[in-house]
Amino acid sequence: MHFSRRTDWNTDTTSLARALAERRSSGQVVLDLTASNPRRCGIQLPEQFLQPFLAPEVLDYDPDPRGQRAARQAVCAYYAERGVSVEPEQMVLTTGTSEAYSFLFRILCDPGDSILVPVPGYPLFDYLADAESVHLVPVPMLRDHGWHLDWQRMEQSITSSTRAVILVHPNNPTGHFTTAEESEQLYAFCRRHGLALIVDEVFLDYALEPTPGVDACSFLARQCSVPLFVVSGISKILGLPQMKLAWIVAAGSEPERGQALERLEVLADTFLSVSTPVQVAVRSWLPEGAAVQQQIRQRISGNLAALDVALEMQPVRWVSRLEAQAGWYAVLRIPALHDDEEMAQRLLERGVWVHPGSFFAMPSSGWLVVSLLTPELEFRTGVMLLLESVAAMAESADSR
Ligand SMILES: Cc1ncc(COP(=O)(O)O)c(C=O)c1O
Repeated sequence: MHFSRRTDWNTDTTSLARALAERRSSGQVVLDLTASNPRRCGIQLPEQFLQPFLAPEVLDYDPDPRGQRAARQAVCAYYAERGVSVEPEQMVLTTGTSEAYSFLFRILCDPGDSILVPVPGYPLFDYLADAESVHLVPVPMLRDHGWHLDWQRMEQSITSSTRAVILVHPNNPTGHFTTAEESEQLYAFCRRHGLALIVDEVFLDYALEPTPGVDACSFLARQCSVPLFVVSGISKILGLPQMKLAWIVAAGSEPERGQALERLEVLADTFLSVSTPVQVAVRSWLPEGAAVQQQIRQRISGNLAALDVALEMQPVRWVSRLEAQAGWYAVLRIPALHDDEEMAQRLLERGVWVHPGSFFAMPSSGWLVVSLLTPELEFRTGVMLLLESVAAMAESADSR
């Protein structure tokens, strides 16, 4: 049997994943500092979230390729609450942001075309791009009192087959927002090279604290002169990844915007993948979202404060964290004793499970990423163990 080249992935279990599975199956403790499943992390979902499933409409089937109008209106109301005007006609519902990306890649790229992605960033893009035969070009950002797009590298990465730029705003895992000034530069860059702009705003509602000079608003609130596609969904907004609902809002310049929506509609009509029950339910879930977001914000700020206290109390400052403006993650700087995967493996041997920085394409080694959604006690214990372990490793390397 012949398999496609685009799915010619290395499907071997990584040594890190194997080590985790072995440790868990042998019953040894694993303090999981990667946990990000809201319900498993103890975020309480309001009981009334089950109510909409009893509505008779849930059993009705009246598909609309772009998603039920009432569901799209609920998403528009979500944006209106944030001071952003979006029309239901600008939107296509999907089963998740992954499907949203795959639709966008299909309408924007032919096989072999490329898309620029500033890194560090979300690792799933690689597989999504492979699956659509799209070539992702990582463009390292500059880190100098925050993260910045590296315009020289962006220019150098352009070829005749470049079609789009993906931006995660705020970024995962760095948690920084793209400033209004930088977005203007990005529009000019996209205009100059005839590119579309895809902006992933799944973490938009999770700004840590209002920071002077930080523009935490949606790209949909910024004037945009290039084709813009904003992607978001309820997996983060409502802490409901199991419900599988996301959307694409097309904005920016015409006639491309209307043309893109027509193509997206044909794709969505081909699959009709978003279930009726979730489209009915989202109408009452979105207005109730604050109850979930408040718990998530509390967890994140509590864990971040605990992390800062623990970092402060280190006898020697082997570990520090990068300033973040938003999101569910903290990026830790550690001594670059080994590559990040090996460091994660050594920490796992001591009972604490973290993301190696390389997982998010952090530059060089010496980076770990931890989830701030982990339940409080597990988080604090895990952080203490992490700090003790890094200190022990650094001191033994020092004494050699
Ligand atoms: C930047 C980013 N976009 C999208 C997602 C996932 O969204 P969905 O569950 O809607 O596919 C994640 C998940 O962590 C993410 O980090």
